[in-house]
Amino acid sequence: MTRKMGSCACGGGAAHFSRNRVLALVFCLWSLVSLSCAARLSVSREKLEVQKHLNRLNKPAVKSIESPDGDTIDCVHMSHQPAFDHPYLKDHKIQMRPSYHPEGRVFDDNKASTESKGTTNPITQLWHVNGKCPEGTIPIRRTKKDDVLRASSVKRYGKKKHRAIPQPRSADPDLINESGHQHAIAYVEGDKYYGAKATINVWEPKIQQANEFSLSQLWILGGSFGQDLNSIEAGWQVSPDLYGDNNTRLFTYWTSDAYQATGCYNLLCSGFIQINSEIAMGASISPVSGFRSSQYDISILVWKVKSKALVFTFSSKLNS
Ligand SMILES: *[C@@H]1O[C@H](CO)[C@@H](O)[C@H](O)[C@H]1NC(C)=O
Ligand SMILES: *[C@@H]1O[C@H](CO)[C@@H](O)[C@H](O)[C@H]1NC(C)=O
Repeated sequence: MTRKMGSCACGGGAAHFSRNRVLALVFCLWSLVSLSCAARLSVSREKLEVQKHLNRLNKPAVKSIESPDGDTIDCVHMSHQPAFDHPYLKDHKIQMRPSYHPEGRVFDDNKASTESKGTTNPITQLWHVNGKCPEGTIPIRRTKKDDVLRASSVKRYGKKKHRAIPQPRSADPDLINESGHQHAIAYVEGDKYYGAKATINVWEPKIQQANEFSLSQLWILGGSFGQDLNSIEAGWQVSPDLYGDNNTRLFTYWTSDAYQATGCYNLLCSGFIQINSEIAMGASISPVSGFRSSQYDISILVWKVKSKALVFTFSSKLNS
C-alpha cells in the first residue's frame, strides 16, 4: 500500500492534492454559506429586536404632530405613558397637582418675573408651530428605527455610557477634563436638600464630530460614584448620537445605580411620570439664544414631595 502510493507519487499525489483542495473549497463554500446564513439570521434577529423595542417605546397616539425638525410628536393618553409599564407603577394614581409646592421668591416664577425683566412661560419647542396635544394626553417624541440603530445596542439606547460619566465635584484641575469631558460647574454638597432650581441660558453650540455632545444641566446626586449613585438630571443638550441632529433639546435623566443597569434619558424607560401636555422630553427647544441677539433661559425646579417622589417643573423666559 505504502509502496504503491510511493510509486505513483506524482499522479496520486496530485489527485490527492486536488481532492483536498476541492474538499477545502467545498468546506469554504459551506462555511461561507453558513456564515452568511448566520449573518442573515442575526440581522433579522436584530431587526426584530429593534422593532420590538420600538413597539414598547412608541405608545398608541391619540394624535400625532409633525415637527419641522423631522420629529414626530405623539400625543399619548397620560395613563398609557412608558412609566406605567413598570410593575411598581402599574396601579399608580396620577396626581395632577403636587401635594406641596416650595414657597418663597426663588421658587415662585411669577413673583420673580415681576422683579426681573421678561415674563415666564412654558418652554417653547419647535413642534408647537404645527399643533397642540389634547388635554389628558402628553407629547412624546416618537423613537425612530435610526435612533435605536445609532446606539451601540438596543439595550444601551437612551442610556449614558457609564464609563464616560465625569465626576462633577473636584478642585483637582485634572478632573475638569475627565474622560475627554470638559466642564464648568457650581455646586453645593453635604447638607440635606429637598430640591433645587437652576436657570440656564439656552444655546446651540456647534458640534464638530458626530460622537460629541454639549449640554447645560441641573444635576442632583446622592450616594457614591461607581456604586449606588442616585442621579436626577435635567437641562438641554445637543447630542447627534442620541437624536440624529444638532438641535438643542430638552432632556431629563435618572439612574439609581451609578449609570449601570437603571435609568435613561427622557421617557425612554419607566421612571418619570409626565402630566404636562405642552412639553415633550427630548424635543428641540426654539427659539434659542443668539450672539448679540435675544437671550432665552429655561428654569428647572425639582423638589421632593414624598419619600420617593420628586416633582419637576420647566419654564422659560426671554430676557431681552
Ligand atoms: C482634555 O482632554 C482632551 C481629550 O482627551 C485633550 O485633547 C486635551 O488636550 C485635554 N485638555 C487639557 C487642558 O488637559
Ligand atoms: C451636525 O454637525 C456636524 C459637524 O458640524 C455635521 O457634520 C453634521 O452634518 C450635522 N448634522 C446635521 C444633521 O445637521
